[in-house]
Amino acid sequence: MSVIVAPSILAADYLNLGEQIKLVEGAGAKYLHIDIMDGDFVPSISYGPQWVKQIKASGSKLVLDVHLMVNHPEKLIDSFVSAGADIIGVHVEATAHIHRALQMIKNAGVHPEVVINPGTPVSAILPILYMVDQVLVMTVNPGFGGQKFLPEEISKISELHEYKKEHGLDFDIEIDGGVNNQTLVKAYEAGATVAVAGSYVYDKVDPAAKVKKLLEVTNF
Ligand code: DX5
Ligand code: ZN
Repeated sequence: MSVIVAPSILAADYLNLGEQIKLVEGAGAKYLHIDIMDGDFVPSISYGPQWVKQIKASGSKLVLDVHLMVNHPEKLIDSFVSAGADIIGVHVEATAHIHRALQMIKNAGVHPEVVINPGTPVSAILPILYMVDQVLVMTVNPGFGGQKFLPEEISKISELHEYKKEHGLDFDIEIDGGVNNQTLVKAYEAGATVAVAGSYVYDKVDPAAKVKKLLEVTNF
């Protein structure tokens, strides 16, 4: 079995987005990672629900994995649900009401995901792990593509993997930031099941080959 590959369109060529999405889908990616940045929780601003809506309408079968890097995510959940998100991730650091935010996502029939920054321990999310379908462990500080993978995050993946087994839970463990054919291997061994990759995949050379490489290095 291989990891689920989730290319991040943050690094794609926006003027040829439809084509860029087809390339990764054809190569075996199952998710498409869509980074929403508000210029407040993180310094950058990216794109909004209209992008999710148009990607959904394009006929792509990819699971739309929406990563909200925004403060007060509760205010935006409805618009991303209506736009067609399949998974919505909220940062535990971005709201005083993580339980409510996850409940809103679940009640809307979308897969809830909780996200933790490098500075946040796994213990911060233990009380709500029973509610989520996916946990995203940030392997860089959020806000920018092209940063270096933080190896100290591997122990959090192992911790979540152990917790999952001990408590009979079955959420996916996603990693995001600095993922490439080398950094992915240790994270996969530790228990990561979904890998986001932005600049590694959309390097302007051969996105399909990069997706295939990530599948190949985790095929053990
Ligand atoms: C970073 C975003 C990532 C970004 C990853 O804040 O959450 O999804 O696209 O980019 P790379 O793979 O280039 O680190
Ligand atoms: Zn992301």
